[in-house]
Amino acid sequence: MSLVFAINGQRFELSLSSVDPSTTLLEFLRYQSPFKSVKLSCGEGGCGACVVLLSRYDPVLQNVEDFTVSSCLTLLCSINHCSITTSEGLGNSRDGFHTIHNRFSGFHASQCGFCTPGMSVSLFSALLDSSSSEFTVLEAEKAVSGNLCRCTGYRPIVDACKSFAADVDIEDLGFNSFCKNSLPPFDSEKRVCSFPEFLKDEMKSIDSGMHPWCSPGSVEELQRLLGACKANRDGLSVKLVAGNTSTGYYKDERDRHYDKYVDITRIPEMKEIRENQNGVEIGAVVTISKVIAALIEIRVEKLFGKLAAHMEKIAARFIRNFGSIGGNLVMAQRKQFPSDMATILLAAGASVNIMSLSRGLEKVTLEQFLQGPPLEDYDLVLTIEIPFWHHQSSEFLFETYRAAPRPNGSALAYLNAAFLAQVKDRMVINCRLAFGAYGTKHAIRCKEVEEFLSGKLITDNVLSEAITLLGKSVVPQEGTSNLAYRSSLAPGFLFKFFHSLIITEKPSSNGYYHLDQPKPLPMLSSSQHVPINDEYFPVGEPVTKSGASLQASGEAVYVDDIPAPANCLYGAFIYSTKPYAKVKGISFKENSVPDGVLAVISYKDVPKAGQNIGLKFSFGTEPLFAEDITLHVGQCIALVVADTQRHADTAANLAVVEYETEDLEPPILSVEDAVKKSSLFEIYPFLYPQQVGDTSKGMSEADHRILSSEIRLGSQYFFYMETQTALAVPDEDNSIVVYSSCQTPQYVHSSVAACLGIPENKVRIITRRVGGGFGGKAVKAMPVATACAVAANKLQRPVRTYVNRKTDMIMTGGRHPMKITYSVGFKSTGKITALELEILIDAGATLGLSMLIPSNIIGALKKYNWGALSFDFKLCKTNLLSKAIMRAPGDVQGTYIAEAIIENVASSLSLEADTIRKINLHTYESLALFYKDGAGEPHEYTLSSMWDKLGVSSNFEERVSIVREFNESNIWRKRGISRVPIIYPVSMFATPGRVSVLSDGTVVVEVGGIELGQGLWTKVKQMAGYTLGLLQCDGTEELVDKIRVVQSDTLSMVQGNFTGGSTTSEGSCAAVRLCCETLVKRLKPLIDKSGGPISWNNLISQAYAQSVNLSASDLYTPEETPTQYLNYGVAVSEVDVDLVTGHTTVLQTDILYDSGKSLNPAVDLGQIEGAFVQGLGFFMLEEYITDSEGLVLTDSTWTYKIPTVDTIPRQFNVEILNSGRHEKRVLSSKASGEPPLLLAASVHCATREAVKEARKQLRMWKGVNDSELMFQLPVPATMPVVKELCGLDIVESYLEWKSSVN
Ligand SMILES: Cc1cc2nc3c(=O)[nH]c(=O)nc-3n(C[C@H](O)[C@H](O)[C@H](O)COP(=O)(O)OP(=O)(O)OC[C@H]3O[C@@H](n4cnc5c(N)ncnc54)[C@H](O)[C@@H]3O)c2cc1C
Ligand code: FES
Ligand code: FES
Repeated sequence: MSLVFAINGQRFELSLSSVDPSTTLLEFLRYQSPFKSVKLSCGEGGCGACVVLLSRYDPVLQNVEDFTVSSCLTLLCSINHCSITTSEGLGNSRDGFHTIHNRFSGFHASQCGFCTPGMSVSLFSALLDSSSSEFTVLEAEKAVSGNLCRCTGYRPIVDACKSFAADVDIEDLGFNSFCKNSLPPFDSEKRVCSFPEFLKDEMKSIDSGMHPWCSPGSVEELQRLLGACKANRDGLSVKLVAGNTSTGYYKDERDRHYDKYVDITRIPEMKEIRENQNGVEIGAVVTISKVIAALIEIRVEKLFGKLAAHMEKIAARFIRNFGSIGGNLVMAQRKQFPSDMATILLAAGASVNIMSLSRGLEKVTLEQFLQGPPLEDYDLVLTIEIPFWHHQSSEFLFETYRAAPRPNGSALAYLNAAFLAQVKDRMVINCRLAFGAYGTKHAIRCKEVEEFLSGKLITDNVLSEAITLLGKSVVPQEGTSNLAYRSSLAPGFLFKFFHSLIITEKPSSNGYYHLDQPKPLPMLSSSQHVPINDEYFPVGEPVTKSGASLQASGEAVYVDDIPAPANCLYGAFIYSTKPYAKVKGISFKENSVPDGVLAVISYKDVPKAGQNIGLKFSFGTEPLFAEDITLHVGQCIALVVADTQRHADTAANLAVVEYETEDLEPPILSVEDAVKKSSLFEIYPFLYPQQVGDTSKGMSEADHRILSSEIRLGSQYFFYMETQTALAVPDEDNSIVVYSSCQTPQYVHSSVAACLGIPENKVRIITRRVGGGFGGKAVKAMPVATACAVAANKLQRPVRTYVNRKTDMIMTGGRHPMKITYSVGFKSTGKITALELEILIDAGATLGLSMLIPSNIIGALKKYNWGALSFDFKLCKTNLLSKAIMRAPGDVQGTYIAEAIIENVASSLSLEADTIRKINLHTYESLALFYKDGAGEPHEYTLSSMWDKLGVSSNFEERVSIVREFNESNIWRKRGISRVPIIYPVSMFATPGRVSVLSDGTVVVEVGGIELGQGLWTKVKQMAGYTLGLLQCDGTEELVDKIRVVQSDTLSMVQGNFTGGSTTSEGSCAAVRLCCETLVKRLKPLIDKSGGPISWNNLISQAYAQSVNLSASDLYTPEETPTQYLNYGVAVSEVDVDLVTGHTTVLQTDILYDSGKSLNPAVDLGQIEGAFVQGLGFFMLEEYITDSEGLVLTDSTWTYKIPTVDTIPRQFNVEILNSGRHEKRVLSSKASGEPPLLLAASVHCATREAVKEARKQLRMWKGVNDSELMFQLPVPATMPVVKELCGLDIVESYLEWKSSVN
């Protein structure tokens, strides 16, 4: 009675009785095995960080089947006799990295590295799948389509995948470090052994005896088992388990304990796919991937190909590989899951064979199945039958549709549909019209419309009537999000389907009657122009990221990978669910302490000598735990500490906080309310931006004015792949060591010391690397580390926490939402003369770093010459979650505000926005007026020439005409193109460094900056290599390979400051340069004395012998004034908007970015692309929704959609401009971390252009006047938002118009 499996070739045998059947494979891997390469990021099947290869041996066929699964959803007991391969198992630093790892490194496709092991395994599996055929570029693009990456922007990842494709043109591959035309070989024959021989000999079924986990081998056995469970006096609770992927959606299921877990995947009848003359019968546990493969095989039935194509959009491949068809239908039937499977099979006329303990075997139509009462726990779906339609005489039309934020899957549909129609001579004989996922109990057939259409010739009028009827049937339930949008999709899909049958008298020459055919996404392609600057070799070289292969193999150690110390405990946060309330007490549901809980740590546990401080920064301190009153939803009330992370998380879910709101003022939940109640934070005068010129004068000079126009901007969540985490370990003499995933070790250090009330020399914060920060691990990491420290101090045991995704999303906050009111004056030419702004910023309940936001907004907004500029900022103190500084904080909003104003001016003058942009671009003189000293020297101002240069290189003018022509001849798709400039001021700040040379000539470097994925360590290594290389002794050329940058340790490197603001890499490089210059000075006399050439190693030996101090530390302080400089970039984006769904495809983006003399162009390229795609998320995709009290509702990968491979620009061209020497900057370099994020505004602006065209057309159909041209496209411009502006009733309006002109 044991569970036997292998991981990376290593055998594991566990006694079944020792395994909790609800244990996931991920939990075993991360907490009980030495293999930490599998990462936890979402825990719900939505990100791919935990993907492993699962291999199963079939003793009958004697073959091994390999496929990916998400280990966070796979139950450990399900993998009996299976073999698991993680990225570390493909290759590693000890046995040699796998080619995949090296390609990821060579293509600069790993930044923070947290996603890379999952990506590597996904790619490996795709390569295995294609073993019989050739791996193509198309497959390469799909290989990682379900994996999320928040850093790279995907382009380099796709290129790394494509590099394995047989049909790739090597010239087409993106920028990489491999010699031209020669990639390191991939020997497909020399495959990793995914299934060790020894396991084959151990294949036997487990006799689970009395254990809760059992795997019956036949239907009869299962029936007996279920019967016995039902007959049991206590009514044993039973869970049927197929792939268990449903727990990704129904998360409460994970904490539920069942008496019996019945694995139904070994029952032969339920695993088979049988074809007969009437159709195909598919066993309920057949995985969706296998269903797809089988349907594609059965070529005689055309309908099946379409079903398969639709099924490929269900979830990601690693879910389809384990999730079953039956499981999906049961979720839809029992729990109203918005299933695609149910909808498409409903239209295809499927039926379901059920085995019920009470009713025996029965066959029902899928429709009856869905409409019936929820399936009982003991009922079983045995098989699903899909009939053939092809044998019938008349013509059949079949199509399926889905509108979802991501075109290729990994996103639930807003609405899905499938239609089957039997037609003869364009007459509908009968049809089946199924709709689902729109906020309905289950997929439905629109019988009324079916009946109406049957026997009819399709004309515009018939279709109009059908659509009216449809409106009565496809009605989302009250409370469904985007209700009107969802309903509006149904007519669009119906119209698309029947359009080809419309009898029309006057076919149009201008395409007005022609339906633009849906086209598959064009393949991704790209180009990169990257200047290599060898003046300061090896600085300026596109060196691959330090440790990239280690990250790919998963061996790179993040905080949660540090093995748990003995006696380690785990914490989970209990947060407030009320915005402003007294906390009366904390208890647990059912008044019993949940399993494994040892303590609930609150403010009362802060040591007497300490203070309740969770954050200490230059602007003050903030509380760690709520005391008597909570100030906002999501505020930390307590940390529940338990023996495992799972127990801690479960307990936090079960916690009940008793609140009281009597005698309290109502909470402040809007900026308007905050202003009314004068609830404002002070902005220090030196941080308040400066006005420019005289706006009253500017206004009086204007020919036109737009007064009091309003813009609102929401938030964005960081979505770093590694959530907040810390490990606190009590040490001797009342001291403490905290491993913290943070961007601010120095401030975490002060916070912990202040909270515990111990001197700072008794605290030590260690940070090796961070799995993505984007600002979210600056202030927001401090309370996480401090809470662990308080718990560890109180319990005198190590305490760690790895905050789960939901809690992270609810507690961490994001960008600052704001309300902007502006008045702008301008001439008839479009020249703007004055801009006045009032900006209300929601800072939340505590200040954090919000005081920096006003100057950042204005810094980016000043990219245009507004003539005169005045503003009034109010930093509102509300009872909402405190906001954090997220990559380009304030700057991205400033950029957007500027563009929204430009667009408004353009609309009101009926001029092109591009004309208004150009006319208002700065001259150097106006730049100097707006930015003062920050403007630098005249030759440094490259923006206006970049504007023209990109215009030429992107063919802007020509493409504007092409877009115009496209829009004239297409009615259901509209295109837009836009060119947007950016200016982004950054400031340098003090940063420390230390460089030490060891006796063998290797070098160790410490810096204040943290490696977040931005390539800081790589640039630092290059700088050390360059500066020490000035000694010019033999061997210094290879010095970079001898340099190791080590973790940040606040007791070793003090004054580490913080990592943020885009300049930490430069600052750290400057510090290292100072240290190396000191070493060079100390070593130079030895070289001079030697009188001839000397090798590096010899030099160091002599230095050791003569006791030369070979360790130098320094603090770089930016002495030059100004410490600020400006970054410039321009982007052109072209988009295509589908007016039926509101979906926007970014067809092309061209970027020109001034990197100065780049310290490492490969790293900077990665920053530019990654930041741009993160900006794309902000502008187009990432809906951050809260309830009226501020509770974040988009708290999972199901609801919060960051960009994926299929949402980035299809053609992505980046050119880095080498803008030459600037004495005052670090080797003339410029920042690249944050500024390029702003360039994504070009996509939003292009979308607005397309929407404008759609609105023009709609107005023409409706015969209304021009005033509606003045509109604002909100951020993010999601599908519902775009569709609403294009007209929710667009199809109806079109049909009406058409019938009126006919
Ligand atoms: C990230 C993610 C994204 C997804 N996106 C989509 C999507 O876009 N569209 C879509 O349609 N689906 C989507 N799904 C759902 C997915 O298809 C299902 O999770 C999967 O098919 C369920 O199969 P399973 O074998 O894992 O079921 P399980 O999780 O094992 O079972 C599901 C439920 O059904 C019961 N059950 C399972 N099999 C049977 C049976 N034969 N008889 C009776 N009861 C049974 C189980 O007891 C359980 O209650 C998504 C899932 C995930 C995790
Ligand atoms: S952690 Fe498993 S898919 Fe995200
Ligand atoms: S490198 Fe992909 S998430 Fe950071």
